[in-house]
Amino acid sequence: MVVVAKISDVPNFGKKVVSVSGKEIVLVNVKGTIYAVENECPHQGSPMNAAVVKDGSISCPRHGYRFSLTDGTCAEHPECTLVTFPVQLNGDDILVDV
Ligand code: FES
Repeated sequence: MVVVAKISDVPNFGKKVVSVSGKEIVLVNVKGTIYAVENECPHQGSPMNAAVVKDGSISCPRHGYRFSLTDGTCAEHPECTLVTFPVQLNGDDILVDV
């Protein structure tokens, strides 16, 4: 686990992109729960930092595939799974296992 950002860096219902070990990761804050997903859609590689977050899922801005924030699965397109990363909070620190 590595510290990647502060919770206060990620606004509620907002996102922040961080680079860790050569990977771009999108942090998402949903009412204080932080999720971490790869900043690359598994469909055709679109960046996910412009994605819409709603009802526990994140929707790719390009073709609208919706991925679970918890495990990256896509109900409509099960062949596509967004990479997700385990997250821990320690005080105001966000730690991600990459
Ligand atoms: S590139 Fe993300 S849904 Fe097509």
